Amino acid sequence: MPPATRDRVFRILHLEDSELDHELLLAHMVRGGLMAQTRRVETEAAFLEALDEPWDLVVSDYNLPGFSGLVALELLKANARDVPFILVSGEIGEDTAVEAMRHGASDYLQKNHLARLVPALLHAVDAAETKRARVKADRDLVASKQRLHELAQHLQTSIEQERAAIAREIHDDVGGSLTALKFDLAWIARHSSSPQVVSRVQSAIETVSHAVESSQRIMHNLRPAILDQGLVAALHWLASRFERRTGIDCAIRLPVDAHDLPAGVPLVAYRTAQEALTNITKHAQASRVQVDLSLAGGVLSLEISDNGRGLSADDLAKARSFGIRGLHERAGTVGGWVELSSGAGGTIMILSVPLSPLGFVEIPSAPVHDADDPSQWGAL
Ligand SMILES: Nc1ncnc2c1ncn2[C@@H]1O[C@H](COP(=O)(O)OP(=O)(O)O)[C@@H](O)[C@H]1O
Ligand SMILES: [Mg+2]
Repeated sequence: MPPATRDRVFRILHLEDSELDHELLLAHMVRGGLMAQTRRVETEAAFLEALDEPWDLVVSDYNLPGFSGLVALELLKANARDVPFILVSGEIGEDTAVEAMRHGASDYLQKNHLARLVPALLHAVDAAETKRARVKADRDLVASKQRLHELAQHLQTSIEQERAAIAREIHDDVGGSLTALKFDLAWIARHSSSPQVVSRVQSAIETVSHAVESSQRIMHNLRPAILDQGLVAALHWLASRFERRTGIDCAIRLPVDAHDLPAGVPLVAYRTAQEALTNITKHAQASRVQVDLSLAGGVLSLEISDNGRGLSADDLAKARSFGIRGLHERAGTVGGWVELSSGAGGTIMILSVPLSPLGFVEIPSAPVHDADDPSQWGAL
């Protein structure tokens, strides 16, 4: 006997009309070395009432006056009680046994073969407990994944807020001081008669101008001010800067107008395009890139495709690569999703965000992915 059962008291609900048969069950339990706390009931009402208590097992006779073991089994399931159920009968036919098992009975025994009772009971209780533990572990895993997902989305949002706050401080504080400094230096240059001082001041003005440019660049990287002019203008700017920097052809197809997008969507789209273009620069070895933005059927769709070397599922599984993973989470913050497909022709990344007519974002059900299609890793 497993050590865990030695000191355990099994709580058994016995559905049985014969006191004698109940005594027999108890005798088998004692012989099998099991401690049990049992209760005998014989009517439907008593059975239902007893179900409110916690039981380790139900042992039920097949034939009862005005009631039956199979009905009891159905009631047990209907009450969502996850208690193992063993059916016992004088002459149980194979059909009945099969039916009982199909309806969720753990086991069936013949009254004249009750020697099997204790092993059957231990097995049924153990199986039910394993199942319960598995269901709990599955539920915990789903909850933990959900929490992780929420945390990742929260981090993305916090990062953007923090960036915007730093950009604001650089603008108000550093930017303001540098501008004032530049004015003062220009004043000194105008009011000085010493060529040496003027030359020094000019050089200082150049340094300050350089610092102003740097702070503007840093501010832009922290929070793309170009977005204030709308997503279309920002994507235009991103694409032309990419082309200038890399020499890779970047064709763009953008709608004339993408105003009135829900809050957060333009920044998510901008960051998606930014990461996709950075990835193309770093990894794709492409010679042509296409950026398409469309607003059709109430869905904003941003597609960035390249004709580079393509990527594999292994690339996306890299432990230290968080760019694309971050995009999935970012998209989730506005109810959208990112899909990737790749093949010999290059890589395509698509961001989709459903927009309701009122500008509110609806949370869609996740798109269906074909796990066997090697060109689709949208779920990753
Ligand atoms: N456009 C692309 N073409 C080819 N490979 C790519 C492309 N985009 C991403 N990859 C591959 O996918 C990996 C994961 O990308 P990402 O999550 O952005 O992380 P990181 O850029 O930091 O490596 C990259 O390391 C690269 O191998
Ligand atoms: Mg990247």
